[in-house]
Amino acid sequence: MKKPDQVLGLPRDKPTSAASVAIQEARLPAAHAGVFPDQHALHRALVDVASARYRSGGRFSYHFARGKLGIDPLFIDLLRLGEFPAHGRFLDLGCGQAVFASWLLAARQCYEAGTWPAGWNPPPVMESLHGLELMSKDVARAEAAFAGEARVRVERGDICQTGFETVDVITIFDVLHYFGPDAQEDVLRRIRAALRPGGVLLARVGDAAGGFRFSLSRWVDQAVTFVRGHGFSPMYCRPVSDWARTLEELGFEVRTIRTEGGPPFANTMLIARVPRHGVSK
Ligand SMILES: C[S@@+](CC[C@H](N)C(=O)[O-])C[C@H]1O[C@@H](n2cnc3c(N)ncnc32)[C@H](O)[C@@H]1O
Repeated sequence: MKKPDQVLGLPRDKPTSAASVAIQEARLPAAHAGVFPDQHALHRALVDVASARYRSGGRFSYHFARGKLGIDPLFIDLLRLGEFPAHGRFLDLGCGQAVFASWLLAARQCYEAGTWPAGWNPPPVMESLHGLELMSKDVARAEAAFAGEARVRVERGDICQTGFETVDVITIFDVLHYFGPDAQEDVLRRIRAALRPGGVLLARVGDAAGGFRFSLSRWVDQAVTFVRGHGFSPMYCRPVSDWARTLEELGFEVRTIRTEGGPPFANTMLIARVPRHGVSK
């Protein structure tokens, strides 16, 4: 018996116009037009569509995007969870080469072509996405991939030093542990201030209380960080309960969801929402 989220069909909300569907289908690889049999087929299609824009940036850029989007369950989980607003402005902190932006655009493209799981919320209409990234090589790859895409702007900047504009969604995936506790508190405080009422922060962290799975993810992270040119940087990890408490103290409503599937890491998603009414910090 299939789970409801594996039963795929037409979108739940207002159908797109026939013309729009035809245009979107023309941009999807033919193999991916139509309704998908299951979540894995959708995932494969999204990896194809989202990584295609990185071809122009060279082999590393393209294969990195494919590997990251294909192996890390974070990205398909984000769509399945459906915590995004219907449309909005996004800020992606420590965005790397901005694969998340490409993933969201690909998801919307699939949705508008009618290829979307029946039980899932429609992916958001991204009005804009501003990415901030420390490493100029990642920024250069993102700029090449999004040349001509006015909605996405990736900028070189240190999120500990750069001001945040007001947005609807802030994402910070696998980044918070790169700087110390004072900077973490300051970044989270500024994230809270930058989100509109009803806005959401989606943060992924390694759970320092996660035992061997956490140790494994930390070793891999240290190796990848070295290869990416950061050297052997210290890492400032915390138990998930600690992150959640800090966010609650800032006035967020917090849920935590463990990342399942993919590499055996203690990765956890924090979904922190600013109440629409009430507490304002
Ligand atoms: C593990 S990668 C994750 C990239 C991206 N969030 C993703 O999920 O694909 C962490 C990223 O955070 C960036 N980063 C670390 N500290 C940063 C800072 N202070 N300001 C901006 N970016 C930072 C790193 O350069 C790296 O690209």
